[in-house]
Amino acid sequence: MNNYQANEKGYYGDFGGAYIPEMLYPNVEELRTKYLEIMNEPSFKEEFNQLLKDYVGRPSPLYYAKRLSKKHNTKVYLKREDLNHTGAHKVNNTIGQILVAKRLGKNRIIAETGAGQHGVATATVCALMGIQCIVYMGEVDIKRQAPNVARMKMLGAEVRPAKSGSKTLKDATNEAIRDWINNPVDTHYIIGSAIGPHPYPDMVTQFQSIISEEIKWQLKEKEGKELPDYVVACIGGGSNAAGTYYHFLDEQNVGIIAVEAAGKGVHSGESAATSQLGKEGIIHGCKTLLMQTPDGQITEPYSISAGLDYPGVGPLHAHLYKTGRGEFYSVTDDDAMAAGLELSQLEGIIPAIESSHALAIFNDKKFKPDDIVVISLSGRGDKDLDTYIDYFKL
Ligand SMILES: Cc1ncc(COP(=O)(O)O)c(C=O)c1O
Repeated sequence: MNNYQANEKGYYGDFGGAYIPEMLYPNVEELRTKYLEIMNEPSFKEEFNQLLKDYVGRPSPLYYAKRLSKKHNTKVYLKREDLNHTGAHKVNNTIGQILVAKRLGKNRIIAETGAGQHGVATATVCALMGIQCIVYMGEVDIKRQAPNVARMKMLGAEVRPAKSGSKTLKDATNEAIRDWINNPVDTHYIIGSAIGPHPYPDMVTQFQSIISEEIKWQLKEKEGKELPDYVVACIGGGSNAAGTYYHFLDEQNVGIIAVEAAGKGVHSGESAATSQLGKEGIIHGCKTLLMQTPDGQITEPYSISAGLDYPGVGPLHAHLYKTGRGEFYSVTDDDAMAAGLELSQLEGIIPAIESSHALAIFNDKKFKPDDIVVISLSGRGDKDLDTYIDYFKL
């Protein structure tokens, strides 16, 4: 029995569903009734797989990190999503969703973005298809991810600042939802993580599941077996994690490890450690774990990493946490930055600060020497150079 798939109402155990204002109902319902049929069409699969291969550059390598393994006395493989076109895993999902949007007859795309990777990936596929693109981004993120803002503009997208709240991902998402309510007919909203109302978490997870599909056959080639001992990923909303875990969810011998952002410390009042601090609540259309005040107001999150700076977590992950299927850890800004520097100097790979959180797992978890640990290297660090420069005074 498979307990980790969304049911027909979009629930993973107690979490998920579609909690939406009435004015969004037609858009979400249209998507819900059509997404599986579209994704299962042979012509859709063919176009999706072709673009992943020739445009994104998949399969992404599974790289045995020899020096990192030696340092931590275990066998570490890195799944190199950082080598995808546009520099992160986000493009797997935007390729899928733009093909869905085209089949739904939409000619205007909106998106939210935190780190800017999803914004860039959306602007990219819109350029590819010749479709208008508007990306909402918090003002704070516009400053800390400036290279990605320039990329989106170069690709022809309009970047609209979100000026409310903490001026980060949550606020950008609010603006995108507002736009969708006002433009219900011609617009598709490309959500960038495994969050939002059903069917988004399931749809995004399925598009990202290519990551674990590849890990299986790549490990078979390298190790003679398909299953690692652990899969590790950072979690903002949870899309790279969902994709990395997907084909291992029912394999109880594969440990699932999720790494969240503890910011300045879980109890510092400046963090995004949702599983530790969150309670059941509703955010952006789904019931999940959510950082909130005792009277239910969403708490402003904080992380040095724009992509993890979100007060909720996708419903699949809330379920993995509650059922104990996933082990959850929270990593501070300082530990993540140190892990980013370590990977740069041991392996010659500068990771996105989001991915650096996953790489900091070795501080909290001891693996055995013969464990096979696959870490999702969700993105590359180019977009974060200014933050690394400021932090390390380079
Ligand atoms: C490189 C990278 N990794 C991870 C994330 C977090 O998103 P998710 O949890 O959906 O994978 C982001 C978000 O922008 C990102 O850019």
